[in-house]
Amino acid sequence: MTSPVAVITGASQGLGRALAHELASRGWSLVLDARHEAALTEAVRALPGGRHPAIAGDVADPAHRRDLVDVAAELGGASALVNNASTLGTSPLPTLAELDTATYLHILQVNLVAPMALTAALLPQLRIRGGVVLNLSSDASVEAYETWGGYGSSKAGLDHATRVLAAEEPALRVYAVDPGEMRTQMHQDAFPGEDISDRPEPTVAVPALLRLLEGALPSGRYRASQLLADDTVLASA
Ligand SMILES: NC(=O)c1ccc[n+]([C@@H]2O[C@H](COP(=O)([O-])OP(=O)(O)OC[C@H]3O[C@@H](n4cnc5c(N)ncnc54)[C@H](OP(=O)(O)O)[C@@H]3O)[C@@H](O)[C@H]2O)c1
Repeated sequence: MTSPVAVITGASQGLGRALAHELASRGWSLVLDARHEAALTEAVRALPGGRHPAIAGDVADPAHRRDLVDVAAELGGASALVNNASTLGTSPLPTLAELDTATYLHILQVNLVAPMALTAALLPQLRIRGGVVLNLSSDASVEAYETWGGYGSSKAGLDHATRVLAAEEPALRVYAVDPGEMRTQMHQDAFPGEDISDRPEPTVAVPALLRLLEGALPSGRYRASQLLADDTVLASA
């Protein structure tokens, strides 16, 4: 039997890398990206299992997205897409009054437009397999944290696009998931100079993501903490 194929963006570190490791050990073949080639290559070398093509590039670049889709097709076609790569914009985070337009547009490109464009390009492969789209959200998409307006509104947009896609593609499972706080570079950048060693490692959120990827929960928005705590969890609206 051929192994299922997943595309995971932002897999060189943090949550993307932790999820890639677990999926590879469970027999998935993975198409992985990140912008910095050396870190991506090192992460992929550490993966267990078969063939995991790594393609360095920026998810905001249409040609790079096309490469990801083509390589997934060469592996036999994707059953899952994990839109994990994301940006805060700048560190420290600015207020909306201070957020310059170019930075705001970049945040929206990377966190909202690129994931949905990659999803659209991969849909023919996903539809054939009744596949799954997993979009990484944040509590900043629902809570009004000061200075999180740029990033938070991009994730709120991603949440909404996820809901619309789920309505348009009832044969797929389409999720947004808030992984909760994690001890990663992004989290450190959000809290520059602060000790974040009390935050959990990203591996803690991985079983929640597996429940969505390998389970049968209905499309919707979930929190990793719910998924880890409750067997009968329901998606929020
Ligand atoms: N950490 C938290 O506390 C937290 C909380 C809530 C939600 N989240 C969400 O969880 C997801 C993972 O976050 P994380 O904390 O694991 O982040 P991270 O450790 O900073 O890793 C981000 C990954 O994405 C890649 N990346 C960034 N921009 C990219 C781009 N434009 N194109 C391609 N790859 C790109 C990075 O590699 P390169 O830099 O080489 O591109 C890296 O591999 C994100 O969607 C984030 O919004 C995180």
